[in-house]
Amino acid sequence: MKPSIIVHGGAWNIPDSLVQTSISGCESAAETGYDLLVSGATAVEAAVEAVASMEDNSAFNAGVGSVLSQMGTVEMDAIVMDGTSMRSGAVAAIQSTRNPVRVAKSIMERTDYSMLVGEGALRYADDQRFERCPVETLLVGRELEDYREYVRTGVLRTRKHFSGETDTVGACAVDEKGHVACATSTGGIPRKHPGRVGDSSIIGCGAYADDRVGAASATGWGEQIMAVILSKTAIDFEERLLNPDGACEKAISTLNDRVDGLGGVIMVNVDGRVGTHHNTPRMCFAFVEGVSGNRRAAISV
Ligand code: GLY
Repeated sequence: MKPSIIVHGGAWNIPDSLVQTSISGCESAAETGYDLLVSGATAVEAAVEAVASMEDNSAFNAGVGSVLSQMGTVEMDAIVMDGTSMRSGAVAAIQSTRNPVRVAKSIMERTDYSMLVGEGALRYADDQRFERCPVETLLVGRELEDYREYVRTGVLRTRKHFSGETDTVGACAVDEKGHVACATSTGGIPRKHPGRVGDSSIIGCGAYADDRVGAASATGWGEQIMAVILSKTAIDFEERLLNPDGACEKAISTLNDRVDGLGGVIMVNVDGRVGTHHNTPRMCFAFVEGVSGNRRAAISV
């Protein structure tokens, strides 16, 4: 079949200053994944490399560009899920790692575990020869200024100094063999307590994939997303509706109505059709839908 991929760069109050870089970052991530798919790569490889390209892009809160915790640390969460085997791999609160999603993939493929956290995750990344990168490399712009101020004074500015929040990146892909996969990665929420883990690395919440239905990746405020298991909820709606946009809309309605949550979700179904929905002011996404030939990169409002 013709492959498809959809990516998101977060659902939040994306400021005008980040609109263009977010759109071009999502477009480039979708193209990276799609090029891999048409050259025969698996859905897992395409989803992971699309997310890795957004982790390398400081416009997004994942990998380079991640937000700072209350203790001046960068603690990142990521997951990958394979819809064929139903296996997943995840890291949570991992530090000093440029591409947490690649470590998550390694955990899925090389261990019997589903998730490693904190020091243990970093030790695994070291053992697998993933390059360590210092906190100053992961922090950019406002977050780097914040970190330098923290090192100088021992005091971080508080959240009230900032407008809007930042969020999560993700990708969902279906490959030529009709297998689906998804991946999600985040720096979490700004000024979080060290050790706080949100939805992104939790199976069913930040991502879910099942070859019988499709694959989904979520973004938004993690605590509420976990309450409604947003990605699995979106896949469950898709199983009934066979309409990815409609399934995403129903899942976001559940998030909104049941827990007053804010977020977005993207999906690709096993037929290669993509869908999105969000209830935040803006959401950045891009897709290449092989079955229709449609391509788009945009900020949805
Ligand atoms: N969705 C990202 C987080 O809450 O950590």
